[in-house]
Amino acid sequence: MAEASVEDNFNGVAVTPWQVTGAVDYDKLIAEFGTAPLTPALVERVERLTGRKAHHFLRRGIFFSHRDLDQILNAYEAGERFYLYTGRGPSSEALHLGHLIPFIFTKYLQDAFKVPLVIQLTDDEKFLFSKHDATLHPLDAYIQLGRENAKDIIACGFDAEKTFLFADSNYIGSLYPNVVRIQRAVSFNQVRGIFGFQLSDNIGKIAFPAVQAAPAFSSSFPHLFGGDAQVPCLIPCAVDQDPYFRMTRDVAPRLGYRKPALIHSKFFPPLQGAEGKMSASDPNSAIFLSDSPAQIRKKVNKYAFSGGRDTVEEHRLYGGDCSRDIAYQYLTFFMEDDERLEEIRQAYASGRMLSGEIKAELVQCLQPMLAELQAKRQAVTESDLNRFMQPRPMSIS
Ligand code: TRP
Repeated sequence: MAEASVEDNFNGVAVTPWQVTGAVDYDKLIAEFGTAPLTPALVERVERLTGRKAHHFLRRGIFFSHRDLDQILNAYEAGERFYLYTGRGPSSEALHLGHLIPFIFTKYLQDAFKVPLVIQLTDDEKFLFSKHDATLHPLDAYIQLGRENAKDIIACGFDAEKTFLFADSNYIGSLYPNVVRIQRAVSFNQVRGIFGFQLSDNIGKIAFPAVQAAPAFSSSFPHLFGGDAQVPCLIPCAVDQDPYFRMTRDVAPRLGYRKPALIHSKFFPPLQGAEGKMSASDPNSAIFLSDSPAQIRKKVNKYAFSGGRDTVEEHRLYGGDCSRDIAYQYLTFFMEDDERLEEIRQAYASGRMLSGEIKAELVQCLQPMLAELQAKRQAVTESDLNRFMQPRPMSIS
């Protein structure tokens, strides 16, 4: 019998924590998920409260949706503290450009609001949901990937005084009281409805959502917040993680906790085109943090889907299609200079700039950015890693 599943909600487009396919219509997604659009008025309010220009991810609608962000801003304005929570499922040796988006944005939020941050490495999740044979890809392999990924994350520049990084396989003891409370409050029917679990799925999968939910409650971090169970939480994440937090928000009041607020990003498209999201399992679809300058150039030139025309003559006549051009799309994520980006858009759309030229712009943008991240990652020592991962009190204003 075919079971109703979140995977076929509209016309070949699927958005779940494990799968993103099709050309996602983000307005539809806001309606479907019941989230709120991130309006220009809210972005302005963020600017006013933080006293700095909004991140270009906000200005350009890359973070496009939220739940209760206004309430976090109210709390902040009233002088109340809050904390940030984000995470990473360690499934590949190096992070790719798409994985970077939430971390770059979270770093901006941490700097702008000067708030503590917790980062969850779900080595358990990736082991439980892996399609590989568990003898070939044992739990230890995911624990090790988590440590490698943690170095990439630290290289994004998080403040060691305000950031706690933890791996589930290690920190679970402290999360466990909240995990158990959440598990008691959610039925199998509910998680099946939200995540599309099957009766044949391993029981770890079915129990896991409680583990991703627990860090949204401040009592999971006694070393940070003492006994305070009511510190508000803001979760920056890609919108495919929303199902976990719909569940979290649903149980929160029943446990006497506040609902976490969320701010959602769009997906980072694969090199091959504007559908789905960049995937680490296809190395030709992704640019990794570990790629060399030559690899970056080669991948962009060879694989980046072009919105250009078939011939130079036609291109000069009709211009390129920025909405389909991957080089242009990536520039909207990584080129900070608004004016330069607009110049490029006009030049490309009018046909003055050719496909090879816009790709060269992207290569020039990515090479120094990744070289800098690689240098920072090189500088991360085991002892830095241990410091970030040590449960410890933090400076919280
Ligand atoms: N499940 C996420 C992933 O597979 C990792 C994660 C855990 C996460 N907690 C989070 C992501 C909180 C965003 C916010 O990558």
